[in-house]
Amino acid sequence: MVRAAVVAEPYHVEIRDIPKPSVEANDVLIKVEVAGICGSDLHLFKGTHAFRKPPAVLGHEMAGTVVEVGKNVKKFKAGDRVTVEPQVGCGQCRYCGQGLANLCLNKKVPGTPSWVGTFVEYFVAPEETVYAIPESLSFAEGLMAEPLAVAVHAVRRAELKPGDTVAILGSGTIGLLALLVAKAKGIETVYCTDVVDFNLEMAKKLGAKAAIHALREDPVEKIRSWTDDVGVDKVIIAAGPGTIIDQASAITRRRGRITLVAMITKPIPVYTYSFVFNEQTLAGSQTYQSQDFEEAVRLLSTKEVDVSSLITQELSLAETEQGLKMLADKAGNIVKIVVQP
Ligand SMILES: NC(=O)c1ccc[n+]([C@@H]2O[C@H](COP(=O)([O-])OP(=O)(O)OC[C@H]3O[C@@H](n4cnc5c(N)ncnc54)[C@H](O)[C@@H]3O)[C@@H](O)[C@H]2O)c1
Ligand SMILES: [Zn+2]
Ligand SMILES: [Zn+2]
Repeated sequence: MVRAAVVAEPYHVEIRDIPKPSVEANDVLIKVEVAGICGSDLHLFKGTHAFRKPPAVLGHEMAGTVVEVGKNVKKFKAGDRVTVEPQVGCGQCRYCGQGLANLCLNKKVPGTPSWVGTFVEYFVAPEETVYAIPESLSFAEGLMAEPLAVAVHAVRRAELKPGDTVAILGSGTIGLLALLVAKAKGIETVYCTDVVDFNLEMAKKLGAKAAIHALREDPVEKIRSWTDDVGVDKVIIAAGPGTIIDQASAITRRRGRITLVAMITKPIPVYTYSFVFNEQTLAGSQTYQSQDFEEAVRLLSTKEVDVSSLITQELSLAETEQGLKMLADKAGNIVKIVVQP
């Protein structure tokens, strides 16, 4: 048996013994050194997740050490330091055929009956989802490959080009990582917004040209004034208040592109005329393709992206419920909370 953090019912996490996972021919068994708490874990915790339902083991972000490999596994051996891309496409559908496992009609993800979550002592993953991380990265930094891959994909969907002016609305984990990816791609002008001073300071420290408090100042007025009333070329939305699409449209130039990575699961009103009048494009961005995950691991490994300051709390497995509550209440200066099973 192995210890796992299980959402037994909404708002209640229990540390339970679950069967040690079996290792099939193509599998890698990994001792989990750290697992990360992400917004989607909060949805499972609250019982509002679309397809992860209690009782379920939390988590999809992790990094750890290989302890055993199946007989067909070639790339890894016991002792290797690794992280895992937490999705497996069916390999059969039209999207998998195009390398778009993120859009697969039948994908397998952790925290569901077909794949246990990562808040466990030992986690099994198919070899194709496992990526080596170098000694120079801590396990917590290695785990950041997952949210960083979300940001890499969002930046790709945003079609950022050298010389673009960019605004990122929301400076939480995803917004800050998108800022780091944009900077690594040589984008000089990135304006960030948030409603928490700690996150705004973080955005400034990580290279934002300006960080705007969206409640104390008007991001539309500020950004339009800094761009000669033209607006920015590209906007990435990484926060979910109900007015955010209209705000994004109002700060984007004509023919500009707005990429929506925030998951706004309730219907919100949108002033569509602004999109027509200004010929703007609104694009969605859903998790990542394997090439984005690979790029995220590369950016971390080369230190082109340094995520060390984003890891703000390290807790034990027993403190998982406390960590989820801290994140839910934004109690304290929080970006990424990690848990050590
Ligand atoms: N598309 C995907 O694949 C994917 C993957 C991960 C997360 N997400 C989504 O991306 C969003 C961001 O995720 P996160 O982990 O960074 O969450 P987060 O809670 O860490 O960040 C959201 C930030 O937005 C800020 N905010 C709140 N109101 C704001 C406003 N009016 N203006 C500007 N900022 C405001 C918050 O203070 C917070 O810092 C969430 O909606 C999440 O569900 C999407
Ligand atoms: Zn995540
Ligand atoms: Zn598929």
